[in-house]
Amino acid sequence: MKHLKLDISRVYEAIPADNIDQLEQELKNASNTLYQGSGEGSDFLGWLHLASEISEEMLSDIENTASALKAKSEILVVVGIGGSYLGAKAVNDALAHNFSHLKKGGDPLMIFAGHNIGEDYMHELLEVLDTHTYSIVVISKSGTTTEPALAFRILKDHLINKFGEEEAGSRIVAVTDGSKGALRQLSEEEGYKTYVIPDDVGGRFSVLTPVGLVPLAICGVDIRQLVEGAKDMEALCDPEKPFKENPAALYAATRNALYRSGKKIEILVNYHNKLHYVSEWWKQLYGESEGKEGKGIFPAAVDNSSDLHSMGQYIQEGERILFETVLSVTNQQYEISIPNDEKDLDKLNYLAGEKIDHVNKMAELGTALAHLDGGVPNMRIEIPEINAYYLGQLIYFFENACGISGYMLGINPFNQPGVEAYKKNMFALLEKPGFEAETRKIKERL
Ligand code: PA5
Repeated sequence: MKHLKLDISRVYEAIPADNIDQLEQELKNASNTLYQGSGEGSDFLGWLHLASEISEEMLSDIENTASALKAKSEILVVVGIGGSYLGAKAVNDALAHNFSHLKKGGDPLMIFAGHNIGEDYMHELLEVLDTHTYSIVVISKSGTTTEPALAFRILKDHLINKFGEEEAGSRIVAVTDGSKGALRQLSEEEGYKTYVIPDDVGGRFSVLTPVGLVPLAICGVDIRQLVEGAKDMEALCDPEKPFKENPAALYAATRNALYRSGKKIEILVNYHNKLHYVSEWWKQLYGESEGKEGKGIFPAAVDNSSDLHSMGQYIQEGERILFETVLSVTNQQYEISIPNDEKDLDKLNYLAGEKIDHVNKMAELGTALAHLDGGVPNMRIEIPEINAYYLGQLIYFFENACGISGYMLGINPFNQPGVEAYKKNMFALLEKPGFEAETRKIKERL
């Protein structure tokens, strides 16, 4: 089995190997807390064995739904936010053609709604949907999150106006709680096809449940390969292994050692634009899991080489509170050689005959060394190629490490109490029934 590799050799100038080794016992305790379910948040550990426990029945059911919707949809509108949005977006973007929106035919184009409250966004989306066939996957565990609920209300009406009540019903799939919530109730009343988000899987850990698998299958992703990759990584992260052979444990230990040495910000770096949303997914995973009780590594991300021409300056010479984790992709799908040019005005003939990716790789290596020299230690995750299998590995690797890392930090990695604060204020400002006291208070304040 080929798998992702974690190289931490470029952190030793910032922290001696001893600093990491000394964390072995602490790491073991955190890992035991996770695997034995003895820590805070232990009722949200369903993701630990999702990949190895998913049934053939579930996979085939999703594939059947996918082929029915594929056949009649040019576009799939996925309605969801946060954990009900970023996983599918990350995997889809990593695997889709860069210009799929300009290509005709093929699998449905994945478009999102309910991940913002943009009025113009919704208007322009409806304009596009007027002239295309489409279906909707609406995803909400609670069923009451404002952004997706608002978007679904509008989209459902549009779909009914376009196709009629019965056909519209057959073009809606709901992914939600198994028994409760507004979306569950609506789905049952309207007879939508539904999938369940397990009670013990939080939003940001849910990409390998129907939350990610249903939209991805409809848009042509090989979900079996995705699950297979995650399953193989699950085996590789066996807590019984020595921690240096367990990539997730090693990553958790290294980032915590860096954090304790004053490196408060981790930047996830990619050199492949298709990985942009993998970073966004990772930011949610780590930001929502670890940023608590005045603690936590701040997760940031850059897309190189673009961002070397913007954020590169800060990373090289700004505050020395950064470390980087580089997503390094070994093989490209395609090859393009740099042509020779008779005039050579741009002085690029010294690269004639080389592949574009060779230049990208040298940019990556040169940057890693320059940042190290500038006081920004970096780890490297080597990914053999971007495909569903290795994305499955990467997802599980980050999830597992996040659980361990959170317990090492001494917080509950599986709740998100902080996200309620803005909602309370927003509801008060919108004068939502039940929030009368908050409305009075906030108006006084304003
Ligand atoms: O990770 C989380 O819990 C959040 O990001 C949620 O996924 C997000 O708020 C959406 O919630 P819901 O699926 O209940 O609509």
